[in-house]
Amino acid sequence: MIPAQVSLVDVGPRDGLQNEKQPVSAAHKIELVHLLQAAGVREIEVTSFVSPKWVPQMADNAQVMAGLQRMSGVRYSVLVPNLKGFEAALASRPDEIVVFGAASEAFSQRNINCSIEESVERFRPVVEAAHAHRIKVRGAISCSLGCPYQGEVTPDEVERVVRLMRGIGVDHCGIADTIGVGTPKRVQAVMERALRHYPIAEVSGHFHDTYGQALANIYACLEIGIQTFDASIAGLGGCPYAKGATGNVATEDVLFMLNGLGIETGIDIDKLVDAAAFISNLLGRKPVSRSGNALLAKRAA
Ligand code: HMG
Ligand code: MG
Repeated sequence: MIPAQVSLVDVGPRDGLQNEKQPVSAAHKIELVHLLQAAGVREIEVTSFVSPKWVPQMADNAQVMAGLQRMSGVRYSVLVPNLKGFEAALASRPDEIVVFGAASEAFSQRNINCSIEESVERFRPVVEAAHAHRIKVRGAISCSLGCPYQGEVTPDEVERVVRLMRGIGVDHCGIADTIGVGTPKRVQAVMERALRHYPIAEVSGHFHDTYGQALANIYACLEIGIQTFDASIAGLGGCPYAKGATGNVATEDVLFMLNGLGIETGIDIDKLVDAAAFISNLLGRKPVSRSGNALLAKRAA
């Protein structure tokens, strides 16, 4: 059942950097994307078109998109919360947009200031407009394994949002463990719910590593055939609306495991470590990646 090939979506430039207090220049963000594509990453979540009052770090979204030297075969995606964001994003020619809802009402209110139902209704015209422009739509479902405000989230609650997203035509379903509390069996149970509504190639896992469970959860997903995962270079990030949440699992850690399993990704780990070193030096700290740090230490020796 374990897939022979896996797609890694690096969400570091968006999910990672959105959480950084210190401003990172558009030029540095662009350089990070260039290093990721040079390493062989074929899907990159570049930025978000959300309110700059809510997430100031992403205010340079159009500038970053405009500065990219695009490589053929690479998909550049952006996060969009509403039609206003979509219209702004359109001028930047994204290959894919990401809409995001939550499996918990409390988180939906805090993250996007509306109920789950309202958020999905808000996405309906966004999905229609994206499809009219032949742009693919990924949907991310936050708090699918637990919520910082509500606590436990049931697979039924997740499936309800999966069904709503499917109902408005969202093409891909990303199951997100925003606060990293999921454990392998539980993750499989939630993924099975997503698979009732989406084909396996259109279901992905987005794991934050707050409790150190992300790699185990990815392995659990591989066991049931899931072949797409989000990860963040150097383990950057967190979520501004989930206190204490750490970054997504580091792309270097996921790649090291996949390489060991003989799973094809097209990504060169040495070049990936270059990208991690670049952004970590810029932010003035070490990567939050065991593999990344081990490989850097080996280089230095
Ligand atoms: P709101 O305040 O409810 O919206 O925000 P509003 O429609 O009343 O608009 C308020 C102001 O924002 C207005 O400006 C709008 O024009 C402006 P003002 O009149 O006050 O000057 N505005 C916008 N500006 C730019 N771009 C836009 C936009 N929309 C409205 N698209 C809104 C609603 C969704 C906009 C707001 O709550 C928001 O931007 N929230 C940020 C959410 C966010 O970025 N969260 C982090 C990303 S999600 C995530 O990280 C989770 C994920 O990784 C998966 C996981 O791990 O769980 C995906
Ligand atoms: Mg996230």
